[in-house]
Amino acid sequence: MELLRLQKITKTYGTKKKVRALNGFDLTVNKNEMLAIMGRSGSGKSTVLNIIAGIDRLEGGKYYFENTDMSTMTGDRMTRFRRDKIGVVFQHFALIDEYTVYNNIALPLKLSKCPDAKADSMIREAAGKLGITSLLSKNPRELSGGEAQRAAIARAIITEPKVILADEPTGALDEENGKKIMNVFHELHKKGNTLIIVTHDPSVAAQCSRTICIKDGKVCGTE
Ligand SMILES: Nc1ncnc2c1ncn2[C@@H]1O[C@H](COP(=O)(O)OP(=O)(O)OP(=O)(O)O)[C@@H](O)[C@H]1O
Ligand SMILES: [Mg+2]
Repeated sequence: MELLRLQKITKTYGTKKKVRALNGFDLTVNKNEMLAIMGRSGSGKSTVLNIIAGIDRLEGGKYYFENTDMSTMTGDRMTRFRRDKIGVVFQHFALIDEYTVYNNIALPLKLSKCPDAKADSMIREAAGKLGITSLLSKNPRELSGGEAQRAAIARAIITEPKVILADEPTGALDEENGKKIMNVFHELHKKGNTLIIVTHDPSVAAQCSRTICIKDGKVCGTE
């Protein structure tokens, strides 16, 4: 069953010096897929995730999510779509410096009005699985890259959103911590969630159900 469809997407950045990040990009993702996206630096991978999450507006082409035309979705509806359906692990983590790790992870639960006691047990369970329990009262600035990455992953998955978009989620991690992340992702996949994972790591891609490759803003291969 189709979850989302991108058709002939184009996206250009910049005003004077234009960069065409996506150039006729097509992708259909089915419900409960675990999809890997690979491709060289600058090929357009993060741009694809930003379009799917509704963070970037598409310029040309069409984007359907559960058969809804997303190009007509704006403002509050888009914010609600992101809050209710999407979890994003940003390439640069995007943790909020003014909040502790605990409050960063708690944020999506607060936005969806989860009661505090329930939120607390969910946060502690996720932190345990990702090996960051001892870091919960720290500030993001006090974390190593790999610790920040795991905190960002905890925040993205805490509400178990329908779709998890992860931009190089194991990029800053050693093998053992990379495995912890993949275990959490496999668990969500088994529960029926859809995962789209940008990765440079062939062993991560090998654990996904399908891999696509992007080159110059277009799909260049699939397996
Ligand atoms: N905000 C922006 N302003 C201007 N150019 C941008 C912006 N974001 C991305 N680009 C350009 O668009 C192209 C695609 O960028 P994107 O971030 O999608 O690449 P990527 O495949 O994620 O690369 P990496 O593996 O290095 O993360 C690149 O040429 C990049 O320089
Ligand atoms: Mg990127």
